[in-house]
Amino acid sequence: MQTAPKILIVDDEPRMCESLRLLLGKQGYDIQTATSGNEALGLISHESFDLALLDLVMPDMDGHQLMDRINNSFPEIIVIVITGHASLDSAVWALRRGAYDYLRKPFEYEELIKRVQNAINQKRLTSEKAVINGKLELSEKRYRYLVHNSPDIIYTLDDKGRFTFVSDAVEHLLGLKAPELIGKPYTAIIHDEDLEKARYHFDERRTGARANAGTELRLKVTGEDGTGKSAEPKHLTVELKSTGMYDRPVPQNGVRFVGTHGVARDISERYRLEAQLQQAKKMEAIGTLAGGIAHDFNNLLMGIQGYTSLMLLGMDASEPHHQKLKNIEEYIQSGVELTKQLLGFARGGKYDVKPINPNELLVKSSQMFGRTKKEITIHRQLETEAWTVEADKGQIEQVLLNLYVNAWQAMPGGGDIYLETENVTVDDSYVGHVGLEPGRYVRVAVRDTGVGMDEKTLQRIFEPFFSTKKMGRGSGLGLASAYGIIRNHNGIIEVRSQKGIGTTFTIFLPASDRAVEKAPSESGEVLMGPETILLVDDEEMIINVGTEILKALGYNVLSVRSGKEAVDLFRNKKDEVDMVLLDMIMPGMGGGETFDALKGIKPDVKILLSSGYSIDGEASEILKRGCDGFIQKPFNIKALSQKLRKIIDGSGVEDRPSDSVTAHPPSSP
Ligand SMILES: Nc1ncnc2c1ncn2[C@@H]1O[C@H](COP(=O)(O)OP(=O)(O)OP(=O)(O)O)[C@@H](O)[C@H]1O
Ligand SMILES: [Mg+2]
Repeated sequence: MQTAPKILIVDDEPRMCESLRLLLGKQGYDIQTATSGNEALGLISHESFDLALLDLVMPDMDGHQLMDRINNSFPEIIVIVITGHASLDSAVWALRRGAYDYLRKPFEYEELIKRVQNAINQKRLTSEKAVINGKLELSEKRYRYLVHNSPDIIYTLDDKGRFTFVSDAVEHLLGLKAPELIGKPYTAIIHDEDLEKARYHFDERRTGARANAGTELRLKVTGEDGTGKSAEPKHLTVELKSTGMYDRPVPQNGVRFVGTHGVARDISERYRLEAQLQQAKKMEAIGTLAGGIAHDFNNLLMGIQGYTSLMLLGMDASEPHHQKLKNIEEYIQSGVELTKQLLGFARGGKYDVKPINPNELLVKSSQMFGRTKKEITIHRQLETEAWTVEADKGQIEQVLLNLYVNAWQAMPGGGDIYLETENVTVDDSYVGHVGLEPGRYVRVAVRDTGVGMDEKTLQRIFEPFFSTKKMGRGSGLGLASAYGIIRNHNGIIEVRSQKGIGTTFTIFLPASDRAVEKAPSESGEVLMGPETILLVDDEEMIINVGTEILKALGYNVLSVRSGKEAVDLFRNKKDEVDMVLLDMIMPGMGGGETFDALKGIKPDVKILLSSGYSIDGEASEILKRGCDGFIQKPFNIKALSQKLRKIIDGSGVEDRPSDSVTAHPPSSP
């Protein structure tokens, strides 16, 4: 409920005061009277008034003086002066000094009431306006704060596309000061290749108030890099939402386009994640494909290798076809290298996992490489007691070889390769290496002083089939397979490169507590035997060539084309069969299942696993369950003959990750 407006009447004539009080009191006002200036000031300083009616002529204090005091100290009080008959001048004076109105004596009572009412209404409006203004200011402040602290770029453009407002986010996103942009056309910050798209988007705004959701645009980022030099031109990808502004709120004929306002959101992080996801999916799809091809291809190579070996068996080197067959074996070897690369990025394609010494591997492989490349000097700086890593030695060797070859190719005039190993413990504070779980790792670095790479190349080097080398020189599989192999070993591979300076590849491999096992020494002979071997493979060709090879080695051969047949036959002949050569990937009952079933029938049955390809570390799994060994297809007679003897004679299990090995004491880095 509103309280009645309070009025102070100041007149030195008490009668006048009284009659005015009666009159205005009837109108519902709350009235006080004073007959002197001092009395009036006394009242005003204790109570608040809305309006003062002042007689300008008073004995103790001039009405002018009183009015000045009120105006200065109590500006919220509206003053109406009452002047004498002739003193128009003083009325004008009072109005100039801030009086709201004046009345000349004698005045009609209606006139008085009207003027007072006017003044009170005016006061009410003024105070309401002040409240509204206060609210507006608050809301404006709030929006200003929100707009300037938003991570998005919020802007308005005029009808010509020039900035009329832009939020502070441009500063850290684009390296521009917001005030610098005002008056400039929006095209000033659009990436050249997106100008047309941006213009289309902007021009569309003229034709209607359709808010266009999600146009993607690239904006130019200006600024300097840490060295003070101007950095390479960069861009920021944003999602833009904008709406046209018109001079009338309701769409109708003849509305005038006055500009646009909009929000641009930085979506580069989303882009990066999407690209990463896509890359991962691509790698997975290619991995599946590569695995399938490698499997079939290895079987084919196995057939060719097998028959070539058979023909060479017992053939004298002087015979006319001997050299040709040797050449075929070399081509097979090239084919094997290719499938090895493919297997690198096949899902989980690692087989023969054993604790190895990374230093030993690095030294051996680099020595071998260095011997053939005299123009390269290899420097080694190795951790004195490098931790053991559990790895497929052949595959890690392949990764290193790929890196050496790349380094060599990057230094056409010769140069230096620096090799390094270091034990590192990754904890939560070890930042900067994406995807490394806390734990102990061996860091292996391969650095060259070659041509280096630019940013664009760097982003693609791990893609399968990406190569900058001449046709026929590079297949683009080297680093893709390196990447896949290291990921399969739960490690990471990183690269740093500078054009004209050189490149460093860094690998982190998880350290193991297990001690390195002595590698069995290889004898050069083909070893024969009289035992009975059960050959299990779904491939007709492998059965044929395998049977012939085993027979040539002196063995009795029983062959079956599926896991189920193997189990059925083994149930009847378990005492006859001395060992089983088991293929891992077969339709229906696979190698793993067959293995378990055979072990169920005869727990000490000797089994050698063979495969051209294994998914998700299945081979390692089966080996861990007590399988006696693994041989990778295509295998040659010699390698097979030696594996067979080792297992049958009981000196085998050299491939099985043993659980009884002594623990390698972890030393601190
Ligand atoms: N050490 C390096 N210095 C400079 N550029 C390199 C280096 N290593 C790799 N690259 C670049 O990365 C690309 C991809 O390398 P990757 O090993 O995957 O394929 P490739 O060497 O071209 O072919 P492949 O290894 O199959 O014979 C190379 O073509 C080259 O442009
Ligand atoms: Mg390469």
